[in-house]
Amino acid sequence: VNKGHGVKGLAELGLKTLPHQYIQPPQERIDHTRIVDAHHDSIPLIDMSRCDDPNVAKAVCDAAQKCGFFQIVNHGVPIHVLEDVKDATHKFFGLPAEEKKKYSKEESVTNHVRYGTSFTPEAEKALEWKDYLSLFFVSDDEAASFWPPVCRNQALEYMRSSEIIIKRLLKILMNGLNVKEIDETKESILMGSKRINFNYYPICPNPKLTIGVGRHSDVSTLTILLQDDIGGLYMRNTETMKWIHIAPVSGSLVINVGDALQIMSNGKYKSVEHRVSANGSSDRISVSIFVNPKASDIIGPLQEVLKSGEKPLYKHVLYSDYVKHFF
Ligand code: SIN
Ligand code: FE2
Repeated sequence: VNKGHGVKGLAELGLKTLPHQYIQPPQERIDHTRIVDAHHDSIPLIDMSRCDDPNVAKAVCDAAQKCGFFQIVNHGVPIHVLEDVKDATHKFFGLPAEEKKKYSKEESVTNHVRYGTSFTPEAEKALEWKDYLSLFFVSDDEAASFWPPVCRNQALEYMRSSEIIIKRLLKILMNGLNVKEIDETKESILMGSKRINFNYYPICPNPKLTIGVGRHSDVSTLTILLQDDIGGLYMRNTETMKWIHIAPVSGSLVINVGDALQIMSNGKYKSVEHRVSANGSSDRISVSIFVNPKASDIIGPLQEVLKSGEKPLYKHVLYSDYVKHFF
């Protein structure tokens, strides 16, 4: 299928029906009659403006425990930075196929930069209706040399200006686990590496038969997600098992707990399944920052959490092994 041009290339052929490779088995499709809108359930929306308010800290920890997902406003990342990174995402995916291909697995000069389509095509039965650009952050210098010029500065600015809120959230979440201080070792396992993903979901000729991203949890510590105003992100309520729509809130960021934090918290904070629908009338973009342990870190339930005699639910594991196994 039109290899190398992404799903966007396919969409632009003006297909009237979905290519068979993208047809998902019925149980993976999104049944819209069984969706609960976030307004009728609880995706907490947390105002982060009051810096040392214990109620804010409580709301964050409660959300991480009960829901695994929450949205934040007044997070300190300037709105123009968010707008710029969204514009840059459209610019990147709007590049000619030949330009984008330079960053594909086959042609990219570094595995820190990867443009691709679908999720892990080798492992999937059916493909996903999505293209992506994934950038692993090492240094500003490396980014200057290898990241695509159309979105490089916007991505760096977004990562830089989200640093403060990321640290604040991690501090709050650690306090909730009786970790009073984030020393160097903790800082590494919590946020030792970062990756930014740009996702593009073209208009789909038959959205009911496919999916933008299939259900998965993130392998991160925390994920910071910026979505546009189209909607289509769903998370699983772990009690009812129902899918809840995370309705876009202008200027907000969606935060979710990843597997690494679930493990470190010994299951207290939940890394929950989520997925994205395909859309028949609008294209959609999202940009996620994955805050991860370093590949060489060993992660496991934190000592502070086990102090009270709690049994460890997880073994200690090399983070890179965890990620390898996951994929
Ligand atoms: C993802 O979780 O992989 C993507 C989320 C989104 O596009 O909203
Ligand atoms: Fe995800």
